[in-house]
Amino acid sequence: MTSPDTEAEHVEATNLLYRDPELYDMVQSDSTGAGMCRTLVELHRPGARTLADFGCGTGRDLEILAKRFECIGVDLQPGLVDHAHRIRPWLDIRTGDMRTVRLGRRTDVVACLGNSLAYVHDNDEIDQVFATFAAHAQPGTLLVLCSPIAPTTRTGPATARVDTPRGPATVTVRHEWDLRTQIDTMHRHWVLPSGDEARDEIRRRVLFPRELERYAQGAGFEVLDMLDGAGAWAGLTGPTAYTVARDTR
Ligand SMILES: C[S@@+](CC[C@H](N)C(=O)[O-])C[C@H]1O[C@@H](n2cnc3c(N)ncnc32)[C@H](O)[C@@H]1O
Repeated sequence: MTSPDTEAEHVEATNLLYRDPELYDMVQSDSTGAGMCRTLVELHRPGARTLADFGCGTGRDLEILAKRFECIGVDLQPGLVDHAHRIRPWLDIRTGDMRTVRLGRRTDVVACLGNSLAYVHDNDEIDQVFATFAAHAQPGTLLVLCSPIAPTTRTGPATARVDTPRGPATVTVRHEWDLRTQIDTMHRHWVLPSGDEARDEIRRRVLFPRELERYAQGAGFEVLDMLDGAGAWAGLTGPTAYTVARDTR
């Protein structure tokens, strides 16, 4: 296993947005993850009071969830955590590696949103992450995940305009699927408001539904439901899904 510091540097280097947390918050302003998480908790464990979010980034979901739960968040990247402390100082967010971190508390909800689980690629390390979820859970705890369950089917390049604090940028995105490793790589080519160009490459491990069930069961969680990433309540279409599971130990 790579050390948390090396892994943090590696993850930061792969994504332009991680090197500019203000831009990250602006581009990732969608609050579907927090909304879906809350809806699933109200459905399956309405009495929940406490929540831990692993891979919380800048804490944008936690800011919303903290209106309903007593929250704690953990992220690998010190740059994102420092940014969270500056702009959301009321949140309890710590630097830590979800493969190994132990916060010394158990919560009613354990969450891992916004595809954070997919940044862990190795099977044994995924086991470690689920052991972390279990170490922060107790009987009845709900585990809520948002993660890729299938490769992206549209592989050809698509260009979009992105508003940034310094003006409009364009980003051209292309996906590449490696079946052997189950890693979906998103190649991005940015043209920034300054005219400068940048490229980044985000590698996400896909865990198909049956695999997710297996990892969850291995850590003592029973999967209750899987729902489409777009929030649809009927059928799974991928590529992203919400998984809700309960600690049955
Ligand atoms: C796409 S971001 C999602 C962040 C946040 N959940 C959101 O939706 O805004 C993925 C996050 O996972 C974090 N991450 C990746 N590997 C991690 C690890 N081993 N431990 C903790 N966080 C990790 C990254 O630092 C990054 O902030």
